[in-house]
Amino acid sequence: MTTQIDSIRVDARAELVRVTNLHELDAWHSAVLGRKGSLTNLLGTIGTLPRAERPAFGQAANDLKRELEAAYEAKLADLKAHALRDSLQEARVDVTLPGRPVAPGRLHLSTQTLRDVYRIFGLMGFQIYRAREVETDEYNFQLLNIPPHHPARDMQDTLYTTGAGVILRTHTSPGQIHAMREYYPQPIRVILPGVVYRNEQVTARSEFMFHQVEGIAVGKSITIADLKGVFIEFARLMYGADQRVRFRGSYFPFTEPSIEVDMNCMICGGAGCRVCKYTGWLEIAGAGMIHPVVLRNGGYDPRQFTGFAFGMGVERPAMLKYDIDDIRYFFSNDIRFLEQF
Ligand code: DAH
Repeated sequence: MTTQIDSIRVDARAELVRVTNLHELDAWHSAVLGRKGSLTNLLGTIGTLPRAERPAFGQAANDLKRELEAAYEAKLADLKAHALRDSLQEARVDVTLPGRPVAPGRLHLSTQTLRDVYRIFGLMGFQIYRAREVETDEYNFQLLNIPPHHPARDMQDTLYTTGAGVILRTHTSPGQIHAMREYYPQPIRVILPGVVYRNEQVTARSEFMFHQVEGIAVGKSITIADLKGVFIEFARLMYGADQRVRFRGSYFPFTEPSIEVDMNCMICGGAGCRVCKYTGWLEIAGAGMIHPVVLRNGGYDPRQFTGFAFGMGVERPAMLKYDIDDIRYFFSNDIRFLEQF
């Protein structure tokens, strides 16, 4: 009988060594220790032995059972550890590999420039007033002292709609009238940013749509000195502390007197270069004291109130600042252009 126990031990141990996975281990367990396993069967024969041999046999068989159970547990743990190691190996992540770059969005150059303008005028107490882009001839021209057939209309080629007298605004100036009519009789200090439309041939220098920022201040003691101060401060904050500003007489129907504001060239610092056409100066805005007719059209009595107004581009100054030679880049959505800023 002990030889049978020994042979089960030898066979079971040899087979266990050959087991390579959980499935085979399961089969091994049934074949040896299961209800019909070899060792279980052997234990079942204990009743056929002479009484005197039974205790020793039982002892030996149970010892083997415990031994093989322990071997089974050890093998099970070993296989599980292997399986874990294999799966970790397979799903291995190399944390030293460089990450995949994500392309974050960014602000459009026009938006960046506008935000700089908002911030600076905000510091000077100007609020933002949004006016409509679809306008009437009345607001875009007539209330701004540009009657029908006035030659100033030729300065801005207009995009008409099929609606009688309804146009796309050619400048942000009609917002002046909207703001005045809304604020009257309070003093006003607003900027009016937005896009404007011109029926123009698109070229490197002109687009049919671009941004402007209009500004007005209306009150009881506003003078042209205030306008000067605002632009000196604006140029300093927008382009640097050492910037100089110059005012030239000009003509606009909606201002009297009218001026144009120049700033010393930010490319050459005033020495003269291709960008400023060797003058050392760049034009940054049209401006002036609001014409009495326009003040009255806005509801303000010009005998009591005065005000200044200005209008400036957004893309042009950005082109100068970054040396961009074609305005069409701004609105053609070429990511290679847009991501440079
Ligand atoms: N509206 C003018 C234009 O688009 C710019 C302008 C000039 C606006 C003088 C003003 C101003 O408010 O006072 O060309």
